[in-house]
Amino acid sequence: MNLDRFPRVDLGGSPTPLHAAPRLGEALGIPNLLLKRDDVHPLGIGGNKLRKLEFLLGAAITAGADTVITFGALQTNHGRQTAAACAKLGLRCELVLTAKVPRDGDAYERSGNVALDHLFGANVHICADGLETGRTYDRLITEAEVEGRKVATFPVGGSDGVGALGYVAAAQELAAQLTERGITRARVIAPHASGGTSAGLVVGTAPYDWLTLDIACVSHPVDEALDNLADLTVAAAGLLGSEPPSLDGLHITDGTIGPGYGIPTAETWDAVRLFGRTEGIALDPVYTGKVGAALVRWAAEGQFAAGEHVVFLHTGGLPGLYGYAPEFTDAVSG
Ligand SMILES: Cc1ncc(COP(=O)(O)O)c(C=O)c1O
Repeated sequence: MNLDRFPRVDLGGSPTPLHAAPRLGEALGIPNLLLKRDDVHPLGIGGNKLRKLEFLLGAAITAGADTVITFGALQTNHGRQTAAACAKLGLRCELVLTAKVPRDGDAYERSGNVALDHLFGANVHICADGLETGRTYDRLITEAEVEGRKVATFPVGGSDGVGALGYVAAAQELAAQLTERGITRARVIAPHASGGTSAGLVVGTAPYDWLTLDIACVSHPVDEALDNLADLTVAAAGLLGSEPPSLDGLHITDGTIGPGYGIPTAETWDAVRLFGRTEGIALDPVYTGKVGAALVRWAAEGQFAAGEHVVFLHTGGLPGLYGYAPEFTDAVSG
């Protein structure tokens, strides 16, 4: 799959590290556990959105855009990484954030990703609900028209066919890293929220029958996630001129979402503590903590064969720990 013909900006940081996690692997009974560190990146505290943004911003700049508008929950990592990438490229960034998660308080509303959005120079618009979000977007579009600016609008999580190309590239990068280590079969543990990460991986791993995916939903139940994956894989494969891979038989679970998106559970915090205490690695309470909880569950259920290589994709989200500061500090102290 040739990605060269798509406009792309180089945000740096690739390839991200792939390394063994022997102490975590020992705790879980997965001796060949590896971590793919998409959380490690020199720009904007890192994370999975930067891969999508390379393609989204490439297309936007090619189309002459000077302003980016995007959306998310208050503690969106996507918004923070978009703000950082826009700062680096000299683009105006408008973040339209909606209070979707039942959380309030100073930490959630002002710290974590929200403070970083401001640090990276974004204009932050906080909306109470979908109606206000729509009105704010319309106002920003009108203002840009009046001022003669050209807008690129990125969807929630940067998840459309173009954004998913970032994880087609990630699949190629990971396959090359595994091959270099002589690994000929591996399972990749990845998240599903807005879907661009897992859709890109579904399309990108299709040529490698030795790489399989285990997807953990962190926001939508499995049936909705599969509908979303069907749309995104068709879009991404369409851009590449290939057939969308079948989703039949894809291993996907929503068993560790708990009460809902953005609400960490006891299992989430257990996973956060386990990664921290065995490998010195920080997961986040909204995404990787729930995927980490799925990994712990699957290991306990004996879903991994002896000696199997398992790659946990760390998609970032560190600032979320500070957005959830009271729960985070309670979960790790004492
Ligand atoms: C840290 C982190 N991990 C995982 C995800 C999920 O990725 P996606 O939205 O592409 O499904 C997100 C984005 O929402 C995220 O910020």
